[in-house]
Amino acid sequence: MNLVVVGAQWGDEGKGKLIDILSEGVDITVRYQGGNNAGHTVIVGNKEYIFHLIPSAILRPQKTCVIANGVVIDPMALLEEIDGLKKRGLPITGKRLKISTNAHVVMPYHRVMDQLRESKRSHKIGTTGRGIGPCYSDKVGRMGIRVIDLLNPAVLKAKLADNLNEKNDIFVKVYGFKNYDFSEILKEYLKFGERLKPYICDTALFLNEAIKNNKKILFEGAQGTFLDIDFGTYPYVTSSNATTGGVCSGTGVPPTKIGQVVAAFKAYTTRVGEGPFPTEFNKAMNECIRSKGHEFGATTGRPRRCGWFDAVLARYSVIINGATSLAIMKLDVLDELEEIEIATSYKYKGKIYKDYSHDLDLLQHAKPVYEKCAGWKSSTRGVRRYKDLPVKARAYIERLEELLNVPIKYISVGSKRDEIIIR
Ligand code: GDP
Ligand code: IMO
Ligand code: MG
Repeated sequence: MNLVVVGAQWGDEGKGKLIDILSEGVDITVRYQGGNNAGHTVIVGNKEYIFHLIPSAILRPQKTCVIANGVVIDPMALLEEIDGLKKRGLPITGKRLKISTNAHVVMPYHRVMDQLRESKRSHKIGTTGRGIGPCYSDKVGRMGIRVIDLLNPAVLKAKLADNLNEKNDIFVKVYGFKNYDFSEILKEYLKFGERLKPYICDTALFLNEAIKNNKKILFEGAQGTFLDIDFGTYPYVTSSNATTGGVCSGTGVPPTKIGQVVAAFKAYTTRVGEGPFPTEFNKAMNECIRSKGHEFGATTGRPRRCGWFDAVLARYSVIINGATSLAIMKLDVLDELEEIEIATSYKYKGKIYKDYSHDLDLLQHAKPVYEKCAGWKSSTRGVRRYKDLPVKARAYIERLEELLNVPIKYISVGSKRDEIIIR
């Protein structure tokens, strides 16, 4: 059955590592949304790889990787990633990497607009500054430039002219920024088109044909459920559907062809950027877990905010993603703690809330109601079988399982490929 790996919190759950492991059992791995705002880390032996646009499965030479139509592609970032992998000895060819004709393209003005918009907001989102929001805005506003347009000078010219006609006014008159030069961008992006040409195809047809031929597909989510444009902590979200709902529209693979959903959680919670975070730690504990878990953004290097596992959010995530199994990542980060807490409900204005709420004020001011679990105070990094985990670590896992009511199939106890327990 085809499967999805979806981030079940605010991103950075360890999807990259999990996908690296699960991609061994599939033929094709597909990114369905987001852009180079993502940073997926895979550690193999003593080599670390951080992927932004290319699915992590590219490390396996026999596998095919697809960047589907739901993704927004910054050609410069993608070419840099391709070149970087080639330099490290990985063969990247049109046979192994396919890019959708109808994915939208991040333009230089998107990156700058992202930063200018942030600078004007009083409530900043803390975006990655990669132009993701403005690119998706243009897509929905029917102003976007797609990958296939880079292959047709006449189309690109017409679209770029329309865009600059409107945007240069906005840049200059609203933001006091510079004019963009038409010919410079045209020349640069036609060149990108030429370089990307070997990889470009109708990936929806490619994937459906592969399914017909019994090939197995893994859909790789970027970001996480609470960064989803519809279900996340809006407006502190990204601009795409990171939840499993994004798979069908983001790839052209129909829902009837998707079987399993693995929802990836950290054993605690992190978030990078601004926005509500009910279970966020105090300063000292934040620093403690950040340093144990190396919680710094894989894309921007910003320190991640850390907090306890939030079962209120997690239950919602399991429901809207249709999780069939769960992965609990980074359990080892909690190894030395005396006591571990889980938020099971929120208290807000004297009332108890058991379910996630879309009320921003509630999310910002709710006090989590915690339940305490005993810490196991020993290293789990060398453990490979569930029964060899300390009793108290198993109790923690089983309590999460009970709260979420979906089997926990994967438990990750370190950043390396083999540091995983499969139940
Ligand atoms: P992604 O965006 O979901 O792919 O996650 P990131 O790669 O941004 O962040 C996860 C970080 O945790 C990376 O540095 C991984 O190498 C690391 N990691 C993944 N799984 C584990 C684990 O089980 N234990 C520890 N200690 N680190 C892990
Ligand atoms: P992966 O795939 C964590 C966050 C940003 C910001 C918000 C909007 O590695 O899990 P954007 O640049 O998308 O407009 O920023 O979303 N964000 C992420 N946080 N992991 C990510 O990706 C993220 N991608 C975006 O920090 O708060
Ligand atoms: Mg990440």
